[in-house]
Amino acid sequence: MEIAGKVCVVTGGAGGIGSAVARLFSAQGGKVVVADLDGEGAERVAAGIRDGGAEALAVAADVATEDGNIALIAATEEAFGPVDLFHANAGGGGGFGPEAPNDAWDLAWRLNVMAHVWAARHLLPGWLDRGDGYLVTTASMAGILTSLGAGPYATAKHAAVGFAEWLSITYGGQGVKVSCLCPGGVNTKMLAPDGDAAKAAALIGGGAVREPDEVAQSVLDAVTEERFLILSHPEMQEFIERKAVDNERWIKGMRRLWDRGRAAQG
Ligand SMILES: NC(=O)c1ccc[n+]([C@@H]2O[C@H](COP(=O)([O-])OP(=O)(O)OC[C@H]3O[C@@H](n4cnc5c(N)ncnc54)[C@H](O)[C@@H]3O)[C@@H](O)[C@H]2O)c1
Repeated sequence: MEIAGKVCVVTGGAGGIGSAVARLFSAQGGKVVVADLDGEGAERVAAGIRDGGAEALAVAADVATEDGNIALIAATEEAFGPVDLFHANAGGGGGFGPEAPNDAWDLAWRLNVMAHVWAARHLLPGWLDRGDGYLVTTASMAGILTSLGAGPYATAKHAAVGFAEWLSITYGGQGVKVSCLCPGGVNTKMLAPDGDAAKAAALIGGGAVREPDEVAQSVLDAVTEERFLILSHPEMQEFIERKAVDNERWIKGMRRLWDRGRAAQG
């Protein structure tokens, strides 16, 4: 899909990857809606885009609720008309493992999975009528490999990848395009609230740290080519293949990595 002239929504648009994607889509001639729980942050990004002479709207939205997604789509349609491309990018959520409170597991599920389901639920009917539409979701390498020490997040991101695959297979023949962004470590507030992104990426097994602008370019390239899987770290393709070929060996290798990291931390 060419972005020029298209109505594009980016959730998590006040933050690292989302703001970079919003700016790049706008630079390509898209009409961009910057959506975020942080309405002021979204407005700062949208205002920056408008200062450059392009059209952009900020919407304060909680995409971890169905109503938040419905209201966001309605606000977009009112301002710019039907949504052409929706990038369900907001994500996150904490908690270590099974002992994490139910609320942590529930938020991980709603924010990283149901947000994508709800966006699709309310966009698909129009897209199927028009025979055209594009859903980009941000999952994570945590959803293909894992994320060391982040159980609810890794589990939910696996489901996010699964949903994106299912959607692409089921509706690809009817004009609905789907891409799934699976970043490794990216230099954003989520990865490193204290600013030490390289250390944070090492702890979760996220590889070398990439900048949000580089990831946004990977998203644009994939959307232009209508390609499903978007890797911020192309070298991770090799890890994906190794896991697929010998799961037992991969599990043992990851276990060693986790145990070494724990020992190093004392
Ligand atoms: N940074 C990384 O290393 C990395 C790696 C893999 C995947 N990801 C994924 O990339 C996506 C973007 O994260 P980022 O790294 O740019 O982090 P970020 O913290 O810079 O941005 C995330 C944005 O999402 C917003 N948000 C959170 N909950 C929301 C909600 N309920 N409704 C609307 N907006 C909400 C936040 O306010 C924030 O602006 C997430 O899905 C994340 O899981 C990031």
